[in-house]
Amino acid sequence: MDFDFQFKSAADDTSGLLIVLAGEERALGSATSALIPESLYSAASDAGKFSGKSLSSLDLIAPEGMDSSRLVCVGAGDVTKMEETDWLDLGGKIGGILMSARASEATVLLERPDNIELTAKQAVDVVIGIKLRGYKFDTYKSAKKDDDETTSCKLSVITSLADGAAELWDVERGVIDGTILARTLVNEPANTLGPVEFAEKAEALRELGVDVEILTEKEMTDLGMGALLGVAQGSRRPPRMAIMKWMGGKEGDQPIAFIGKGVVFDTGGISLKPGAGMEDMKGDMGGAAAVIGLMHGLAARKASANVICVLGLVENMPDGLAQRPGDIVTSMSGQTIEVINTDAEGRLVLCDAIHYVKEEYKPAFMIDLATLTGAVIIALGHHYAGMFTNDDEFAEQLMNAGEASGELVWRLPLSSDFDKLIDSKFADMKNVGGRAAGSITAAQFLKRFVGETKWAHLDIAGTAFGSPQTEINKSWASGFGVRLLDRLVRDYYE
Ligand code: BES
Ligand code: MN
Ligand code: ZN
Repeated sequence: MDFDFQFKSAADDTSGLLIVLAGEERALGSATSALIPESLYSAASDAGKFSGKSLSSLDLIAPEGMDSSRLVCVGAGDVTKMEETDWLDLGGKIGGILMSARASEATVLLERPDNIELTAKQAVDVVIGIKLRGYKFDTYKSAKKDDDETTSCKLSVITSLADGAAELWDVERGVIDGTILARTLVNEPANTLGPVEFAEKAEALRELGVDVEILTEKEMTDLGMGALLGVAQGSRRPPRMAIMKWMGGKEGDQPIAFIGKGVVFDTGGISLKPGAGMEDMKGDMGGAAAVIGLMHGLAARKASANVICVLGLVENMPDGLAQRPGDIVTSMSGQTIEVINTDAEGRLVLCDAIHYVKEEYKPAFMIDLATLTGAVIIALGHHYAGMFTNDDEFAEQLMNAGEASGELVWRLPLSSDFDKLIDSKFADMKNVGGRAAGSITAAQFLKRFVGETKWAHLDIAGTAFGSPQTEINKSWASGFGVRLLDRLVRDYYE
C-alpha cells in the first residue's frame, strides 16, 4: 500500500478511521482521551482484554458517541522504555492495521500516553514503520485479490511537532525509498534482471545527481579482472561493473566506498547447486541491491560525504564455456587463484571489485556487502549479518549503527590460522577452504585484496532475504544494509 503522509499539529477531521496510542494500563494522552468517551473505552477494553500492552490493539467499529467510523487503539506498552526500533515496529503495526482495514484515508493521532511530547524523530520513525510495512512485491500478480483493492492511503499524522516531523521525513524518505528499491531488486526474478539491466538501474540514479559509469566486459578485460570475468564466462549475458559517485562532501576529502556482490543468479556453475531452493539464488545480488539502495538514499538526502559505490554484476551459469574446477585465474591485483569450486564465485567477483576500488579511489574505508556463504546462516541465523573487519573502532561503529537501525551485525574473527586454509598447491590461493569456518575463510580470501585500507565485509546471506517476517517487513527481500549503512555514514562520517 502506498501512503501519502500529511503531518498536522491538530486533527481537523476524525470522521473516518482513527488510530490512537495507548500506554500501560490503558493510559491515553489528554488530546486522545478527549476524543473517546471514557465509558466506551473502559467497557471495550474490558471486553477486548486490552491493556495497552506493546503491539496489541483494540478495534471499535462505529464507536458510539464518536465522530469516527472506526477507532483502533494500538498498545505502545511502557513508552518511557521505547527505543528507536520500537517506534519503527509500532509504525509497522499501524501500517498492518491500515492495510487490513483497506483504508483509503485515515488519521493517526501520535500522542504519547504519558503526555510527554513526542519528538519529531519518534513521529518519523512511526511513519517509516508504516511505509516499510506497506511494501509489497506484486509486479507479477495479474489478478489482484479482493482484499488488495485499496492500494493507496491518504494518512493524516497528528503530532505536536508537525513541521519538524515533515522536514525530517523529507530527509528520511529517500533512505526508505532506497530500502524499498533494494527489496524490489532482490525480489525481481533473474530473467528480467541480468547484469545489463542491473547496470541500467544504477544509471537511473543520475536523476538524483549521482555520477554513474558502467564498465563493459571489454573494459574489465583491459583492466585485468580475470577473477570476475572467469565467473561471468559461463553466461550468455555479459558482466558489468557499475561505479556510482556522490561527491557531497568537501572537495578533496578522501571518499568512503561500498562494494556489492551482484550475482544476478547463482546456479553454482559447473559445481552445480542442488535443485531444491535454487530459485532463492535470484537474490544473490542482495549486496549490490543494498549498495544501490544506499546510494539512492545518500543522494536523495544530499549527504555531506564523498561516496563511491561499486557493483560487480555477473551471472554464474554452467555452460560449455563456463570455468571449470581446477582452472587458475589471475585477478586484477596480480594474485592467482585456483578455482576449486565454481560455486564459491562471490569472492571471485568481489576481489577484483575491491582491488579496483582500493587502487582507483584510495578510500578512507571500504565496506563490501555480499550474500557470500550459506555458512553464515548456520552461524548467525537470519537476524544478524556476519561482520569481519581489520579495525576495532570500525567494528564498534558498525555494531552501534546496527543496534540503532535494527539491522544487526555480529563480529566474527579473522586470523592467519584461517588464512592458511586457502593456500593452494598450484596458485597463490584457492577459492575455498573446506567445510570448517566457511564464512571466515571466505572473508580471509577477501582480506588478501584489501591491503592496508580500513575495511569491513558484511556477509548478508542470512539477512538479505528469506528472514522471518517482522512488523516492518512482510516481503521475502528485506533491503538489509541500506538503513544500517546510512546510519553509519550519518553518525560517523558526515
Ligand atoms: N550465494 C551463495 C551463498 C548463499 C547461500 C547465499 C544461501 C544465500 C543463501 C554462494 O555463492 C555460495 O554458493 N557459497 C558456497 C560456498 C562454498 C562452495 C564454499 C556455500 O555457501 O555453500
Ligand atoms: Mn555460489
Ligand atoms: Zn553466490
